[in-house]
Amino acid sequence: MQFGYFDDAASEYVVTTPDTPLPWINYLGSQDFFSLLSHRGGGYSFYRDAKLRRLTRFRYQSIPADNDGRYLFVHDGGDVWNPTFAPAQAALEEYECRHGLGYSRITGARGGVRVGLTFFVPLDAACEVQLVTVTNTGEAPKDLTLFSYVEWCLWDALDDALNLQRNLSLAEAEVDGSTIYHLTEYRERRNHYAFYSVNAPIDGFDTDRDAFVGGPWTALAEAAVPRAGRPGNSVASGWYPIASHCVRLALAPGETRELVFVLGYAENPDDAKWENGSGVAPEGERHEVGRSAPHEMGRHAPPEVRRAAPHEMGRLVRKDGARALLARFATADQARAELARLAASWAGLLGHFHLESADDKLNRSVNVWNQYQCLVTFNLSRSASYFETGIGRGMGFRDSNQDLLGVVAMVPDRARARLLDLAATQFTDGSAYHQYQPLTKRGNHDLGSGFNDDPLWLIWGVSAYLKETGDLAILDEPVPFDNDAALAAPLLDHLVASWYHVVGNLGPHGLPLIGRADWNDCLNLNAFTASPGESFQTTAGRGDGRIAESVFIAGLFTATCPDLADLLDRRGETGLAAQVRDSVAAMHEAIHDHGWDGAWFRRAYDAFGAPVGSATNDEGQIYVEPQGMCVIGGAGPDDGRARAALDAVAARLAGEHGIALLAPPYTRYHVELGEISSYPPGYKENGGVFCHNNPWIIMAEAIAGDPGRAFDYYRRITPAYREAIGQVHMTEPYAYAQMIAGPAAPRSGQAKNSWLTGTAAWAWHAATCWLLGVRPSLDGLVVAPRLPAGFGDYTVTRRFRGATYRITVTGAGTPATGRLSVDGVAVDGDVVPVAAPGATVDVLWQAP
Ligand code: BGC
Ligand code: NOJ
Repeated sequence: MQFGYFDDAASEYVVTTPDTPLPWINYLGSQDFFSLLSHRGGGYSFYRDAKLRRLTRFRYQSIPADNDGRYLFVHDGGDVWNPTFAPAQAALEEYECRHGLGYSRITGARGGVRVGLTFFVPLDAACEVQLVTVTNTGEAPKDLTLFSYVEWCLWDALDDALNLQRNLSLAEAEVDGSTIYHLTEYRERRNHYAFYSVNAPIDGFDTDRDAFVGGPWTALAEAAVPRAGRPGNSVASGWYPIASHCVRLALAPGETRELVFVLGYAENPDDAKWENGSGVAPEGERHEVGRSAPHEMGRHAPPEVRRAAPHEMGRLVRKDGARALLARFATADQARAELARLAASWAGLLGHFHLESADDKLNRSVNVWNQYQCLVTFNLSRSASYFETGIGRGMGFRDSNQDLLGVVAMVPDRARARLLDLAATQFTDGSAYHQYQPLTKRGNHDLGSGFNDDPLWLIWGVSAYLKETGDLAILDEPVPFDNDAALAAPLLDHLVASWYHVVGNLGPHGLPLIGRADWNDCLNLNAFTASPGESFQTTAGRGDGRIAESVFIAGLFTATCPDLADLLDRRGETGLAAQVRDSVAAMHEAIHDHGWDGAWFRRAYDAFGAPVGSATNDEGQIYVEPQGMCVIGGAGPDDGRARAALDAVAARLAGEHGIALLAPPYTRYHVELGEISSYPPGYKENGGVFCHNNPWIIMAEAIAGDPGRAFDYYRRITPAYREAIGQVHMTEPYAYAQMIAGPAAPRSGQAKNSWLTGTAAWAWHAATCWLLGVRPSLDGLVVAPRLPAGFGDYTVTRRFRGATYRITVTGAGTPATGRLSVDGVAVDGDVVPVAAPGATVDVLWQAP
């Protein structure tokens, strides 16, 4: 069952009913200001950091779901409704939500009135714009009263939820003309404020939630002010600050009016927080506190009201930042021009890769939605989604390095900056903070370090960046260790430190020690935690951590370190390069001798030296990660182990909804394994389809020669192919989910944790670089398609190092090798040489 459809021409997903299985969201913003927005207007906004700079409040786990958001109440002769359906849930005669690239347009109609709301975060502006169009579609004139509504969060989202005894006495707000300012804590240590404004005279306002809603026993759906059709003109003082404008519109039949609401954020210099010494605002900006200025209040000016304003010695909060920003959106035409600029920017970003094939699901995935999700994930790591509260996690070291794979061609400069930020949180011994906060860029001390796969992902990230850009100079860039400038060293030294951290921490079988966990956060072989609530990741329960080993890290080492050796060679460090290659050879041997179980690769050795992911175990006999990563790293192509491991995946892990992480799932808690065995069978890492690693198998199958299987696996997890089973899948059909419940789960096929997942980058990488076979390398663009026979011909237009490559593939299928020609001239091998910037190159790949 579907709940909408793809409008490919507009690059939009159109949700056609408010009653989707879960909130289906979009992300607005990709620089500093971000908003999460559901198809019912739910969600929240923040500035740069979802934890430390939260602007509006959201209640996770509420009923009904998806509270709060930014809502517009329409009062039409006593009838109260919302064009977003939520929160009043009055039946709509028309409803549609179009999620597009960086904007969403929600339209609702009832009783002869149609309201369209276009939400977007403009480029270079710290705000969310809401362009509202109200049309009287009936035959009679309409007198409508509109009420906007957002609830402010007191900035620190965690403290906001915890420290009520203090927070409920803090709120301060001010109304100045049609702008409502949220000023809580401004009088003390904050130099920032938020505001919500509309480009029309208002007929009143509310900044106190209880006054708007009508006391503590009324639901927002039943809020008193919209029911009464009259603003409360309430001023927050402690309790729950909100911002609501009241705007009255008289519309003739057929008439349309437009309004521009702006929800924004501004900062003042610490030493210039107040408007001026005397309390007198500069000419032209003068306003009175404690009185409403009638000229600002429109035709239905409410009685005089108090509009509280925090003072310091009679001085007022300085508002020029907000005013300057509002001036950019003073008219609907200005707002539309900004929306057009945003659209052009997205078209430019996504235009670096364009596929035309007979498979429209694949086209829309790789051309639009998967790329889009890659950028969202790159921006936010795992911080803020409808499953990540924005409080728990900052930027993950391993996650961000992998997220880079999905965006490096789109935003190489930002990828470069991100790599330098990440490397700066590495320690001199090569280990790294597992996460850092985006606002401070400092490592997160609570979690610390000790996830022994982390360092290697930096090599993968840098190498992906170099293959895309050829910018070898980044290797000489001085980068601090542990954010300490005194410890700065060239980026190349960081990569060597990463390598060394693995070779310097090998276990009894010559395999890498696992530490707190490797890629699989839930395989905690040293934690031995038996107390509820204890962290699986940071508890060091037993032993010195020098026995438990990871076959996965071994595979990752063989997949990444040959690239490091190549870079060292290019830097003239041939001795070190040879050492790295020797260590890779030794690792292959260790995998061969101790990582192979007989029919597949083992997963690990536990703290007693016993194998994990082995036929000798009673549960958790086979794990997916080492089958993918060891084959990618080059294990077992000649002696049949690669093929056998992938056949074992097909036989034991692959199901209709994707490839499960392990089988059989753990049915009881294994203290020696940790969190993995804490989940009921079939969920999350305990045998769920953890989509992130499915692309590793897709790549491995592409490498090992079964493109049919590779493409089949791709379609099982890719949301566009799952759209038709929306009632089973439940999350958005345009964004990958972290997990789809595995075969052992009672709700097999149900997805969770959509949007912020490494699946986005890996799926894009697997599809474009391996299936479609267009992949950057240090020497040029590799063209090596790996699609099943019968897929049909296709073209890819790819921007690469400033040139445009128009690639035509005919007759892809088995055998995998074809004839390659560049501008009509045959080329040996599969690398298209780097062309001059600005050039357009015609590439033809033909089956023999
Ligand atoms: C989840 C993992 C996640 C980890 C983060 C675990 O509960 O299952 O997927 O990476 O938490 O700490
Ligand atoms: C999600 C985490 O963000 C990621 O770092 C980890 O690799 C996977 N879960 C698997 O546990």
